Amino acid sequence: MPISSPSPRVTLRTLRQWVKQGQPFPMLTCYDATTASWLWRGGVRTLLVGDTAAQFILGHDSTLPATMPFMLEITAAVRRGAPDAFVMADMPFGSYQCGEDDAIRNAMRFVVEGRADVVKLEVDASFAPLVRRLSSSGVPVVAHIGSRPQQVRVKGGYVHAGRTRAEADEIVRTATLLVEAGASMLLIEATPSEVSSEIVNRLQDRNTGPDAGKNAVPVIGCGAGAACHGHVIVLHDLLGLSSWQPPFAAPMGAVGTNIEEAASKWVKLVESRRYLTDTHPYKLDG
Ligand code: KIV
Repeated sequence: MPISSPSPRVTLRTLRQWVKQGQPFPMLTCYDATTASWLWRGGVRTLLVGDTAAQFILGHDSTLPATMPFMLEITAAVRRGAPDAFVMADMPFGSYQCGEDDAIRNAMRFVVEGRADVVKLEVDASFAPLVRRLSSSGVPVVAHIGSRPQQVRVKGGYVHAGRTRAEADEIVRTATLLVEAGASMLLIEATPSEVSSEIVNRLQDRNTGPDAGKNAVPVIGCGAGAACHGHVIVLHDLLGLSSWQPPFAAPMGAVGTNIEEAASKWVKLVESRRYLTDTHPYKLDG
């Protein structure tokens, strides 16, 4: 099914079909209902309610302050705005690292209250048992590997991942382990393209074989190279709303400038006392 054709509901099964057919798919971050409905109209069928909302919506300097109630609320809003889209919900920092039972309860809230299709966790190999329990409990998991922004305090800043052969091999091994543990999808952030090519190659049989419709594991890249099945960037970067964009997410719009222009017209209109002088819509009846 081509991405542009009208489809009832985009699910994990739809994504597996796209992977099987070799049809790449675009994903964008989204944090509210209105924008979700516009993105759907633009043909974007997969949306990530990312914890980058802490930065782009709330103005924090990292993703760490995103909370469960906030992420749940905006996930449900995005679902209401694009009822047929595939919605991926980010589990915020602290919501899945404090014990498996707690993590499973929180993940289930994203599926039930947020009406997300999948939950995304930033993980390394030590999370394999949690990934296994989540997926056997009925929660499809996206394993976010490569650069992991929730590690910012540990790393002392943001760095791209897989810089050396040894690091790249480690990411590939982690991907394999997490897929074996039951991860339904992978999201690879900021790595050299060799890392994603190798992961995609390793999944090739599974992703094109007779059971691919049931078992394919879509690989989404966020600055991870062309081989990925899907590609995600932050909406504010695409729209030209952010003050800085990563090198793989050049702006394709100038919405920030549009807002500035509209705002300055409004300021002039009111300050010059021309607003509603002749155009006020309400009149006395008698
Ligand atoms: O939170 C987010 O927006 C993300 C993407 C940058 C992949 O995780």
